[in-house]
Amino acid sequence: MPPVQQRNSALDFLPQRHDLHSLGEAAKDCRGCDLYRNATQTVFGEGRPSSVIMFVGEQPGDQEDMAGQPFVGPAGRLLDACMVEAGIDRKAAYVTNAVKHFKWEPRGKRRIHKKPSMREIAACRPWLTAEIEAVKPRLIVCLGSTAAQSLLGPSFRVTKNRGRIMDVAGYPPIVATVHPSSILRAQTDDDRERERQLFIADLVAAARHV
Ligand code: URA
Ligand code: SF4
Repeated sequence: MPPVQQRNSALDFLPQRHDLHSLGEAAKDCRGCDLYRNATQTVFGEGRPSSVIMFVGEQPGDQEDMAGQPFVGPAGRLLDACMVEAGIDRKAAYVTNAVKHFKWEPRGKRRIHKKPSMREIAACRPWLTAEIEAVKPRLIVCLGSTAAQSLLGPSFRVTKNRGRIMDVAGYPPIVATVHPSSILRAQTDDDRERERQLFIADLVAAARHV
């Protein structure tokens, strides 16, 4: 029997070969935490194997869960638009999430997003680190606190450190910014536009680095 921590993580499901295709296939059968139970499917990262920039979101949302692809819902459309404005070609980037299954709770007929726990984030981290090692991007952009905390630890605060490119042992340089969903949640049009411009500025700085 493997030790307890290992039995409850993605580590037991990693394939022998760590190329993106093998990883994606193996991740389909992951049961490294309980989140696979209520989700439709694993949503693995997507993009060119040699991408210079990697975007890491939180977890798939409702639409991503059904499509099996990351960032294809409302947050994904906003991310795409901001990437275009920042001069980043999504097809030249690798896009993934810290957690590969959709965590949700029912509200009426809708499935409402629920934040993954630190334990679930840790359980799923082996997929993320394997993606980073396979792609070897020149920069990782963490979208929101879940992605940032997965790679930088639970005490990391996006509000304090957004836009700052950090050198972290064992990883390519990492920069954190807000999650596009937080822009969609802004209370007024003015706030939303301001948040959007700040986000684009972070992406421009990221693009300049790579
Ligand atoms: N939000 C995320 O963090 N990731 C997705 O793939 C979609 C929405
Ligand atoms: Fe595995 Fe991650 Fe899904 Fe949990 S969320 S079952 S660790 S792929």
